[in-house]
Amino acid sequence: MEITVSNIEHVNGTLVLPINKGDEHIADDRLGGVARSLRNQIELIVSSGDATGKKGEVITLHAADGKAAIIGMGKESERNEKTCRDAGAKFVGQYKKRHGVVFTIRFCGWSEAEMAAFAEGMILRDYKYDKYKSKDEDEEDVSLKAILQCEESSVKALGKLVSTAAAVATGVHLARDLGNCPPNDLFPMAYAHNAVEWAKDKENVQVNIISFDEAKELGMGGLVGVGMGSDRKPCMVIFELNRTVAGPAPVIVGKGITFDTGGISIKPSPSMDEMKYDMHGSATVFGLIQALHATNHQGRVTIIACMAENMPDAGAQRPGDVITTYSGKTVEVLNTDAEGRLVLADGLWKAADYDPSYIIDLATLTGACVVALGHEASGLWSNNDDLLNNIKEAGEVVDEIAWPMPLFPAFEKEMKDSKIADLRNLGAGRWGGSNTAAAFLKQFVPSKGEGEDKEQIPWAHMDIAGTAWGAKSNACVAHGATGIHVRTLHRLITKQ
Ligand code: BES
Ligand code: MN
Ligand code: ZN
Repeated sequence: MEITVSNIEHVNGTLVLPINKGDEHIADDRLGGVARSLRNQIELIVSSGDATGKKGEVITLHAADGKAAIIGMGKESERNEKTCRDAGAKFVGQYKKRHGVVFTIRFCGWSEAEMAAFAEGMILRDYKYDKYKSKDEDEEDVSLKAILQCEESSVKALGKLVSTAAAVATGVHLARDLGNCPPNDLFPMAYAHNAVEWAKDKENVQVNIISFDEAKELGMGGLVGVGMGSDRKPCMVIFELNRTVAGPAPVIVGKGITFDTGGISIKPSPSMDEMKYDMHGSATVFGLIQALHATNHQGRVTIIACMAENMPDAGAQRPGDVITTYSGKTVEVLNTDAEGRLVLADGLWKAADYDPSYIIDLATLTGACVVALGHEASGLWSNNDDLLNNIKEAGEVVDEIAWPMPLFPAFEKEMKDSKIADLRNLGAGRWGGSNTAAAFLKQFVPSKGEGEDKEQIPWAHMDIAGTAWGAKSNACVAHGATGIHVRTLHRLITKQ
């Protein structure tokens, strides 16, 4: 989608008019340059109350001299960035060819942030994954063109907000592309290959791949254990943005299980295909670095993607195996389906090499998190209240909710209770499964300082099992991978 911003001048294509519930009149300046017959129709339908302004209502008008779409926004007092973003997204979702491909959108009394949010919703929703569909020869991909018209005094600021939103959305769409890609084509080394290709022409990005053989040499027993049952071997992919910038900086770690069969502790068949999304943590972090690069972020940021395919095989790890992770801690693998925490254990420990100011990991880690929060929020655990609050706030602003969850000492104790190893990868019972998983991860967060000053680095864990796909209530996504938290983390990182 191509978006431009201008002051109210002539109308190009279809005129889009968001109205409030109960509006009886459209201000004259919003109808400037509108051809007479269309203008009369608009005035009539609004003054008669046929266009109610009810949230979600879209009325299309077709006059001899032009077209219009009147969008109901609900009560004016209830308008905020979220309702505007969702309205923009829904409009694009409902758009049909008959509406044309060029829109002129005129707002009235909206803040710059609200207008930008409407545009952002349009951009985010303007996405499809049709790479694998055969196309008719005469079928042309239409590219939408939107012209936002506002008061002269807002043109510049709105233009800036919209171009940032569009740049960040390239990261969201990249994350969705990776998430939606079928698992026969997106396997660990394919992700690594994509990363190398992506970084090729970018001067301030370095990509480093830790191969299966190197991971074995380095003693990354978590990554190796999970990935060794697949013909398509595991790897760790590390992206560094602006590596020459001095001082501590964020490190973001993603779970990248390109397919999770459960391994020898095999999963039941229903919906197993959805386990192609089990790499969405790694999709998000890839999308994040694209978003940061596209917005010309000057700070240093490191991304670590822990890539493996969890398969049952003669060479696969068994329930009962004891592995030694990169940290040196041993883990009794009681269930090979609790694999995400094993690859992340090594990724979190590796983060220490990059002088982290804080570490955040993202993972489709537990079904239990979906039981707790549904598809409405990601679970959020942290050893640091400031970090937790900053992530929560950033999520609220962009409408990607991250909800605080507890790290009680009892959960850590439960995970340390192996008879033969330092840790077990499975809780003692099935209750609180997303909390015990988070408590397990905490054991692998590196510390800073020596002796009395030794302290764990601020760390947060985001369980995106419920938000990476499947939310019917998400107006900005039609179906499939959501690209969740690219925008949250972009905001978190660029705001400070
Ligand atoms: N990738 C799954 C978690 C998952 C399940 C995400 C459903 C989204 C939807 C993870 O690897 C897993 O299998 N977790 C197990 C953990 C259990 C064995 C302790 C789970 O949630 O059942
Ligand atoms: Mn699993
Ligand atoms: Zn998994």
